[in-house]
Amino acid sequence: MKFPLMRNNILREDLDAVIEHLKQDDPILTHGANVRAFEAEWSEWLGVKYSVFVNSGASANLLTMAILKIRYPEGGEVITPPLAWVSDVASVLQNGFTPVFADIDPTTLAMDPAQILSKITDKTRAVFLTHVQGFDGLTDELIDELQRRNIPLIEDVCESHGATHNGKRVGSIGWISNFSYYYAHHMSTIEGGMVCTNDPDVYQQVRMLRSHGMVRESNDENVRAAYIAEYPELNPDFIFAYPAYNTRNTEIGGIMGRSQLKRLDQIVKRRTENLIRFLDQIDSSKYRTDFKLEGSSNYAFNLILKEPDDALVERLMQKMRESGVEFRRGSAGGGNQIRQPYLKGIVPTGHHLEFPETEHVHFYGFYIGNFPDLKNEEVDELCAIINSV
Ligand SMILES: Cc1ncc(COP(=O)(O)O)c(C=O)c1O
Repeated sequence: MKFPLMRNNILREDLDAVIEHLKQDDPILTHGANVRAFEAEWSEWLGVKYSVFVNSGASANLLTMAILKIRYPEGGEVITPPLAWVSDVASVLQNGFTPVFADIDPTTLAMDPAQILSKITDKTRAVFLTHVQGFDGLTDELIDELQRRNIPLIEDVCESHGATHNGKRVGSIGWISNFSYYYAHHMSTIEGGMVCTNDPDVYQQVRMLRSHGMVRESNDENVRAAYIAEYPELNPDFIFAYPAYNTRNTEIGGIMGRSQLKRLDQIVKRRTENLIRFLDQIDSSKYRTDFKLEGSSNYAFNLILKEPDDALVERLMQKMRESGVEFRRGSAGGGNQIRQPYLKGIVPTGHHLEFPETEHVHFYGFYIGNFPDLKNEEVDELCAIINSV
């Protein structure tokens, strides 16, 4: 592929940092000092008190919904995006909640705040908002209204590291936030994810949920002491507070994360410059260019037709294939999640049609790789290929 979705996301310097670690006699490879250091450095960068490093963004979603389940064992509704990744919906279902979908705002691709507010009922337990493709999906009105109604905001920032809202990094605004470090994302620990929060109770619970629900994984002495006192007949090393998971990462991931974090701000800057160059050049009579750019930290170039045009889509795909342009149709996660087989029988038949903005992206939207290694001349060439269709 001449224009892949990602190139050189893991650099020599990241690998060298791993090799340095491996040169030690008997190096620790399971999670240890580097994981703890990465969590602390990430918290500092993001502007939150606590972060827990896990093995994927999907695991971050899963543990976050497991936290919600601890608060609401009886279940309830979670307002969920139809345009996101499968794990944003799967984690809701896996924890016994009902996903209630809200259509997207075409300028951010995140759920439209007005749609979110219109879906709130007395059963709403949380709004699980994904910042899609690097755009800031928040508005002040949404934040204020959720606060007023006492509804927790959970942010999925897996595609939007470094995006900001009013100068504050997204992922530091809601109750809990999730990140992914999979290969094509802003930074990569091979596989990896993070759960972030300012809530000390959530922090202790996520630490336990990450490691089999084990109480000794809490780093709060009072939490451990309370369980030990309540269960004197149990070996303190083996008290399982929750029926949970093993979603730990490793020292290798921690070392790579620490190495990559050093250049994350630079990565965000370069991705944004590329996006602006791309939007300045693509044909704005055919493609949407009116995205909300303020605070954005682009994940990938979004090429979304202004109007439905099946013939143009076919020509565009053919041209991109023959020109070596890798692309994903439907933007984030393959388009409208509500169309997916795993939701059959869970949502009413034909429910996907009630989300026209998401449906438009499903059929007439694409994403194309944007990454720091992409040169200006390549962005220009890419735009020329697209505009030639
Ligand atoms: C919005 C969103 N959430 C969650 C995930 C899952 O992350 P991972 O691939 O690390 O499991 C992704 C993955 O791309 C994503 O885009």
